[in-house]
Amino acid sequence: MSAIVGAATCRRSFLVGAAGLLVAGTFPRASAESSKPPGQFALTAAKGRASLVGKAHPATGVWCYGGTIPGPIIRARQGEPIRIVVDNNLSEETTVHWHGIRLPIGMDGVPGISQPPIAPGQRFTYEFTPPDAGTFWYHPHADSLQQLGRGMAGALIVDEPGPIAVDRDVLWMLTDWRLTADAQIASGFGNSMDAAMSGRVGNTVTVNGAVSKEERVRAGERVRLRLVNSSLARIMALRFEQHRPLIIAIDGQPCDPHEPDGGRLLLGPAMRIDLLLDMQGKPGRRYRVIDDFYDGLAYWVTKLAYEDKPPLRAHSLDPPPALPRNPVPEPDVTTAQRQELRLQGGMMGGGGMAGMGGMSDMSHAAWAINGTSMTGDGHAGMAPLLTLQLGRSYLFTLRNDTAWWHPMHLHGHSFRVLSRNGRPVPRQQWADTVLVPPRETVDIAFVADNPGDWMLHCHVTDHQVSGMMAILRIV
Ligand code: C2O
Ligand code: CU
Repeated sequence: MSAIVGAATCRRSFLVGAAGLLVAGTFPRASAESSKPPGQFALTAAKGRASLVGKAHPATGVWCYGGTIPGPIIRARQGEPIRIVVDNNLSEETTVHWHGIRLPIGMDGVPGISQPPIAPGQRFTYEFTPPDAGTFWYHPHADSLQQLGRGMAGALIVDEPGPIAVDRDVLWMLTDWRLTADAQIASGFGNSMDAAMSGRVGNTVTVNGAVSKEERVRAGERVRLRLVNSSLARIMALRFEQHRPLIIAIDGQPCDPHEPDGGRLLLGPAMRIDLLLDMQGKPGRRYRVIDDFYDGLAYWVTKLAYEDKPPLRAHSLDPPPALPRNPVPEPDVTTAQRQELRLQGGMMGGGGMAGMGGMSDMSHAAWAINGTSMTGDGHAGMAPLLTLQLGRSYLFTLRNDTAWWHPMHLHGHSFRVLSRNGRPVPRQQWADTVLVPPRETVDIAFVADNPGDWMLHCHVTDHQVSGMMAILRIV
């Protein structure tokens, strides 16, 4: 497999003898080891070129971090401070949002609210201490449609103090692109069709920045596979042919290991799933990883290609222990203050817009939350939709009145997903981004423990920038 996560090499000593796992000595060297001291990182945002679709096609003009697609992996340790110096070599303003990290508002990267945007040629230093271990990611929060859609994204992995016993720790950043026939990024960002419908769903999906024919695996090995959907709009439903992945964390937050419903992993934009994948296929064979989210548009993302070698171990491994829980405060649902948030707008079957009758300005707003449309990526002076009391528990019903799916993201917090359509869901998983299907409701609960003005928005970027965004003020 490509993109072995950086610290895998350092873990070798832990892995030998742990839970009977052998290490086969197949760890490639991490590609971009930083020479900086631990916890210190540098990212430069700039234009570049990347070979997204292979040698037979021209390289794609992209915008990226550190010259690579995806950007460099930032590897932190739970509870230890990190510092990331960001230089903006683009010809427009940018910021970096550390998606899913519960950090102080001043480091959240929302322009005008957390910080002034970073002007071209300027630098901003982000410093924070990730309280939670898990799989997170970073992306711009300025001109998001273009900056994210042209490639600016990277993984932020926070390690648990004690690693779990696996043979390899692997990242797949899954990114959808809308490319022209000569492999360039298609224009038309923010057109009104994309805005009012599914968002800018593309035509090419890459794994770690390149279209993937296969990812090499070894029979018998156990892999921790970190999936990140860094697409602007594409929702994925992944199936691993003849394999049984176990979900061990969602949006960085551990859960009881379980198989996905119907064997399908639903991964909306910005969502992450950590899997434990035991390679139980046959040496020399290939197995497809299929995304069949959109009706009639199934395709395979890649194939697991088994090396023609005997299995790494003779006996299958014991079921894995759960990852240690993160210190997320538990909401008290009995005393929680309840609030309904209606997601409105978008194109309907008949061509009209849903629930937008009372809206005055239809020129660039296609969506609303409770009748209010906040557009763009964040700017100074945005009025809060709600004011929440610091330390109090809240129970939000997200009611999707539209004909489209919305991955709803809350900044600065993780929330429990309590129920769907009024029925409690198993495990009541923590998340920072939850997919709300058309015409359905999802109840979430969280403790408003982080003071500041926090964004709540749809992570289909077209929807966010055209109105499906709000600010929650916590004081
Ligand atoms: Cu990844 Cu405002 O979000
Ligand atoms: Cu949406």
